[in-house]
Amino acid sequence: MGDNVIINSGVIVEHDCVIDNHVHIATGARLGGTVHVMEEAHVGAGATIKQHITIGARSIVGAGAVVVKDVPAAQTVVGVPAKPLKR
Ligand SMILES: CC(C)(COP(=O)(O)OP(=O)(O)OC[C@H]1O[C@@H](n2cnc3c(N)ncnc32)[C@H](O)[C@@H]1OP(=O)(O)O)[C@@H](O)C(=O)NCCC(=O)NCCS
Repeated sequence: MGDNVIINSGVIVEHDCVIDNHVHIATGARLGGTVHVMEEAHVGAGATIKQHITIGARSIVGAGAVVVKDVPAAQTVVGVPAKPLKR
């Protein structure tokens, strides 16, 4: 785990995850094994990240999302399964 990381209440971080600097993981999120959350990413409340996934730097995972594919840098994903947020 890096510096300046927030792991909020009720979060589950499974085996062999890597969490880089300045990451915020909100309440009740669940990270499967070997997930990598890169710098300044935000994982929303209650989100689930499947095992082996990479969450790119500065990306946002919306509350309640289920992430089954890698998330590129600086992208916001929402929903089940998680998809890029269309503006
Ligand atoms: C994903 C998120 C960052 C988007 O925020 P935003 O850019 O302000 O987007 P908006 O609220 O304008 O919503 C845009 C659209 O996405 C939808 N949406 C927003 N958040 C969503 C979510 N978590 N899941 C599914 N859809 C979502 C909205 O319904 C809206 O859809 P519409 O255009 O069809 O009406 C935000 O909603 C979110 O989930 N943040 C995490 C919050 C959290 O977990 N906080 C923890 C406490 S610190």
